[in-house]
Amino acid sequence: MEPFFNKLDLDKARWESYDRLEERRVKDIRDCFKETANLSEQQLETVAYQVYQIDVKPEPGAIQHSITVIKPGNVNGECHMTKGHYHANDQSAEIYMGLKGDGLLLMQKGEEVRLVEMKRGVVAYIPPEWAHRTINVGDDEFVFMSYFPGDAGYDYQSFLDEGVRTRIYKTDTGYEKVSD
Ligand code: F6R
Ligand code: ZN
Repeated sequence: MEPFFNKLDLDKARWESYDRLEERRVKDIRDCFKETANLSEQQLETVAYQVYQIDVKPEPGAIQHSITVIKPGNVNGECHMTKGHYHANDQSAEIYMGLKGDGLLLMQKGEEVRLVEMKRGVVAYIPPEWAHRTINVGDDEFVFMSYFPGDAGYDYQSFLDEGVRTRIYKTDTGYEKVSD
């Protein structure tokens, strides 16, 4: 393949161009939240997060990179978050870099949970075999960049089946962690 580049607008925390945009609405990720009874149609249609993808072939040796934007908001108090996943290729690590806003990176392996506050400039290393999810705990959008192996893949179901050990709720002064 040919070498290539894309420009990152550091002020806006967005690619200047990208190949694909994936959007997930609250209705697409409702199973991630603890309390989902009585959600309005408007709330179900709300965009919770977007992933701006640069397309690279999903091959060993390649490096995928994308920008995720989590919109501020909550579902019955629980902050907007990504679905979260293990990598299907469980020997794949990943790097997240905070670009804008206030987020948390939650990593989980069995009973163990780690949380990293992902402000702009924080670079976090997700080792192989740790499930990972990001959460917007601020009042503005939370944006970060991901770098991961071409053949990492996604295993959403194992994380969903296992269940999350820590839930993050909005408070007047920030957020609180609740064990599940
Ligand atoms: C890729 C990765 C991120 C996420 C993105 C959306 O391995 O971790 O690019 O894919 O932040 O989160 P999910 O995929 O959990 O919906
Ligand atoms: Zn990942």
